[in-house]
Amino acid sequence: MKLLVTGGAGFIGSHTSLLLLEEGYDLVIYDSFHNSSKKVFKRFEKILGCDETYLTKRIKVIEGDIRDRNLLEEVFNYYSSSGDSITAVLHFAGLKSVSESVIKPIDYWDVNLLGTKNLIEVMAKYECYKLVFSSSATVYGSTSSSKITEDHNINPQNPYGHTKAAVEDFLTDLYNSNDKWSFAILRYFNPVGAHSSGQIGEDPFGVPNNLFPFISQVAIGRLEKLLVFGNDWPTTDGTGIRDYIHVIDLAQGHISALEKLLENNNQIVKLNLGSGKGHSVLDVIKTFSKVTGVDIPYEISNRRSGDTGQNVADPSLSKKTLGWETKRTLFEMCRDSWNWQTKNPNGYN
Ligand code: NAD
Ligand code: WQD
Repeated sequence: MKLLVTGGAGFIGSHTSLLLLEEGYDLVIYDSFHNSSKKVFKRFEKILGCDETYLTKRIKVIEGDIRDRNLLEEVFNYYSSSGDSITAVLHFAGLKSVSESVIKPIDYWDVNLLGTKNLIEVMAKYECYKLVFSSSATVYGSTSSSKITEDHNINPQNPYGHTKAAVEDFLTDLYNSNDKWSFAILRYFNPVGAHSSGQIGEDPFGVPNNLFPFISQVAIGRLEKLLVFGNDWPTTDGTGIRDYIHVIDLAQGHISALEKLLENNNQIVKLNLGSGKGHSVLDVIKTFSKVTGVDIPYEISNRRSGDTGQNVADPSLSKKTLGWETKRTLFEMCRDSWNWQTKNPNGYN
């Protein structure tokens, strides 16, 4: 079965693509490489123990922008006219930085919303009606709930979150308009970690914004110290609590969601992908130091604008709907991030 994976070279897309290949799916990966490297596919060969000839039979890589409607059409048309139509799409491609979205809202609306509209129009033309969409827990905005369920208010607080919520609405409208569409809208909490081989992982350009890549770069000596954004939150130790999810657990969640869409037509599910466990910034620092044996220098600083104290999923609906739950612990998330970082101190370069 042939699947289209947009953004399949990125952090979450690459881990999911690898698992999809292992499950026997053949892939068309469509990525602009705006925030990823083509080198990731060489790493697939190493992990799978195969050569380039085998891999090119299983994956076709297309460099393109999801806003390029002509190219998307060419791709769908090529597979449909060769009798090997694309059955479903996993749509990871998009821009994902909250802070950048505040400065460049036009780019975020253009890529995240108009890019998705483009993709949907081409899918409809080629009668491909199943899509797994990368949404985010950011759509919930600030919350006072100890664990967030899917029926929580949608109230995003920044342009990035607005675009994710808008795409959710768009897909819901499509589902209501025509009984051919099926969607799995997956709201990720905090994806971290890397494949246990250390061959693929998160490779942010420039100084990272997120906690895990930042700590890894402090531990390896590329950055001097971590700033902890506030110790006056109403949490157990005063630092921010998040629901970190190992990227391999997350990738497995996508396989379960895809299988659900393939089982039956005309469904829409909106699901939290998280562990249901909260860890504070100090918990992460402590576990990271224990795993690596390296001291993580840190300093308490002011709260970061737009942050919330606690953000933890109630993942029970995902378990009930998909039979999926996370398996990997914070220790494994730190271990695998560190393994990736030490094997690739400069990422894919
Ligand atoms: P990533 O930046 O590593 O991957 C996104 C991929 O999309 C990259 O390979 C990038 O080159 C590609 N891309 C960007 N713009 C494109 C365009 N116009 N056309 C084609 N390709 C384009 O990000 P990720 O962490 O793997 O995130 C994947 C998806 O999950 C994104 O939609 C993101 O918003 C969402 N998400 C991520 C997180 C997170 O913390 N990482 C959390 C919630 C949701
Ligand atoms: C985690 C905790 C920080 C960095 C972001 C996006 C969200 C989603 C996931 C895409 C918080 C603290 C961080 C640092 C720190 N992405 N921290 N020092 O903000 O929960 O979520 O990524 O959809 O939309 O907002 O993740 O890793 O940035 O922060 O103290 O240098 O670590 O305050 O408590 P966040 P994060």
